[in-house]
Amino acid sequence: MRNKIIGKIAVAGALLATTSLAQAEDVEVLHWWTSGGEAAALNVLKDDLQGQGYGWIDMPVAGGGGEAAMTTLRARVTAGDAPTAVQMLGFDILDWAEEGALANLDSVAAKEGWDAVVPQALQAFAKSDGHWISAPVNVHSTNWVWANKAILDELGIAQPTTWDEFIAAMEAVKASGKTALAHGGQAWQDATIFDGVVLSAGGTEFYKTAFIDLDMDALGSDTMLEVFNRMTTLRSYVDDNFSGRDWNLASAMVINGEAAFQIMGDWAKGEFLNAGKVPGDDFLCFRVPGSEGAVSFNSDQFAMFSVSSEGGQAAQGAMAAAIMSPSFQSAFNVVKGSVPARTDVPNDAFDACGKQGMAELAAAASAGTLVGSIAHGHANRAAVKNAIYDVVTAHFNGEYDAATAVEELVNAVEGAL
Ligand code: BGC
Repeated sequence: MRNKIIGKIAVAGALLATTSLAQAEDVEVLHWWTSGGEAAALNVLKDDLQGQGYGWIDMPVAGGGGEAAMTTLRARVTAGDAPTAVQMLGFDILDWAEEGALANLDSVAAKEGWDAVVPQALQAFAKSDGHWISAPVNVHSTNWVWANKAILDELGIAQPTTWDEFIAAMEAVKASGKTALAHGGQAWQDATIFDGVVLSAGGTEFYKTAFIDLDMDALGSDTMLEVFNRMTTLRSYVDDNFSGRDWNLASAMVINGEAAFQIMGDWAKGEFLNAGKVPGDDFLCFRVPGSEGAVSFNSDQFAMFSVSSEGGQAAQGAMAAAIMSPSFQSAFNVVKGSVPARTDVPNDAFDACGKQGMAELAAAASAGTLVGSIAHGHANRAAVKNAIYDVVTAHFNGEYDAATAVEELVNAVEGAL
């Protein structure tokens, strides 16, 4: 079937060469890239496809982590009106593949040699039953801190290298009257912080045992109590208006000098760059103290929903090929804040944080310290992910103390299995 699609791409290409560009089919793309930095990155993809003659129908559904986008997707598919291509994360991709809803991308993958260049950790979510079912556009990671350099300089705070130093730094910022930790109280953001805190308090093995293997003893352990205690501590450094704030507005607080730190995935870097800020001069990027060496990753991938029209299939094949081209992977990820989803992309065009991210991803992959993000769908299926969200967010909002949160976590995960 895929050979047929590649054939169609060639036919479409030939058509484009001889007739007007307007004849190529449009792609409708469902995604949740709605912040300034995300939109800038999305434009790189849009321009690439439009340059090849494919029209772009935008279907944005705001909401970091993609929960709202996935709800919209379900409604569209149920109504028999699936978009051409969909931004998706981790286990959601596998779930849709198991429902038989996704197009097989084997031909494009074989032609472009994806097997040799896409890391195994990503292939685990881009292939189902041995067949390629999505095109990974990037690798993000969540255990990052973004810091306003001027605030740290002014207060004489060095970049923290341990959890205790991090807390001492936040204490000093709080005493100065500024917000120590910029945060948006939304379940996925609380969970994003949680990724880094679990790695910091428990290390990679604990992370894997508790959140990948879902070992009940680890989930109910004293180490988990320490994780929630650390979450309680972080809660004391956010401002009074944190509830419901979007993540990019929290990034803006650090960018504008209202707040010193944000714990957030490296999509936050896209906001700093979009505001003209320079890593090392205006802002610092470093791993959540105590989690150095570990990388909790999530990879945005584009899955194609099966379509019957030849033009539609050609457009999907062209989009998949465009996403995976090395030059696109560099151009896009430089803007997005993420790193390439292929191992053979040079790091020349990336800034210091990007180079660090690329090196750390490779090192973590070979050291066995690369773990799927709990918050962003790479540790568990949606039911378990959502159960964890509920407990983490209830605790962060003061509904549970740390000890109760540990008990509730065990119950919630057990109930979701
Ligand atoms: C996605 C990123 C996105 C972020 C915030 C994450 O789940 O992987 O691409 O920038 O959510 O919207």
